[in-house]
Amino acid sequence: MKALAARRHHRFAPVVLLLLALLVTGGVYAAFAPSPANAETASTEDIETGQKLFQANCATCHGPNAEGSATAPSLVGVGAASVDFQVSTGRMPMQMDGPQAQAKPPQFNEEQTEQLAAFVASLGVGPAIPTDEQVDASMGDPANGALLFRTNCAMCHNAVGAGGALSEGKFAPALFETSERNIYQAMLTGPQSMPVFNDATVTPDEKRDIIAYLDEQRDGSAGGLTLGGLGPVSEGLWAWIVGMGLLIGAAVWIGAKSS
Ligand code: HEC
Ligand code: HEC
Repeated sequence: MKALAARRHHRFAPVVLLLLALLVTGGVYAAFAPSPANAETASTEDIETGQKLFQANCATCHGPNAEGSATAPSLVGVGAASVDFQVSTGRMPMQMDGPQAQAKPPQFNEEQTEQLAAFVASLGVGPAIPTDEQVDASMGDPANGALLFRTNCAMCHNAVGAGGALSEGKFAPALFETSERNIYQAMLTGPQSMPVFNDATVTPDEKRDIIAYLDEQRDGSAGGLTLGGLGPVSEGLWAWIVGMGLLIGAAVWIGAKSS
């Protein structure tokens, strides 16, 4: 300690201090920064096979190196999560030109999807595929998820996730069948007209709460008949037509009896 104290006024002391400070900051950042989880698990073979699959199936639109073209966006930096979402829901490879790339039965199996994702992730850093723990609905809080869903998602997807129409022929799909992983990825990557909910807006824990809430909506409503779960319009219509119909019927019946 004495030796250190004696050198404290040495003219290189500030430099040494600065270097130490940089080292500590860098170390702390590396320990806490969100790491692209998939980057290290993908082998070079996966990336190479992914590249071949990409060239055969995607390059016509996205360009041979995913740099984008007049018809399709560049995929550099969209990350493995976006590719996994688009390919596992069957949206990509896109087939028809329409207002919105439609979900359809996936064309690639899980391994091929991972390889495609590994190839695109190797081109630039982007959001990684979430881990099983991140999307485990049983670890989330559905009540908090309901609150978050109502503030962030219900205006497009309806209060229970039944989906709804948007402008120009686009629509927000129903979320009853969507896998937990795909729900997480949709928030992370914001497909097409959906906004991105990055980890600063909706934290990973909150994303899991939303998944837990949506998971509960799958088995139908706890309150009996759902009337399609379409909200106040369908419920109001039901009350008017059936409720008022019954009242009018009763009035006619009473009137017919007395005459
Ligand atoms: C027929 C042309 C076409 C083909 C083939 C195609 N795509 Fe696409 N892709 C598009 C278009 C157009 C978009 C933009 C959709 C939008 O945002 O409206 C897109 C978007 C994407 C996105 C989302 C990018 C983002 O910003 O998050 C990914 C990922 C993607 N494509 C991957 C693929 C992969 C992987 C394949 C091959 C298996 C593929 N695509 C094949 C046309 C195509
Ligand atoms: C501005 C309207 C809008 C908001 C707000 C929005 N979404 Fe979406 N969402 C969309 C659209 C449009 C699509 C369809 C995109 C496509 O087909 O590529 C979509 C797709 C999805 C999908 C994929 C469904 C499937 O069948 O593959 C999920 C999951 C999803 N949204 C969840 C959410 C969650 C959770 C939130 C709130 C945190 C949210 N969305 C907020 C418009 C929205």
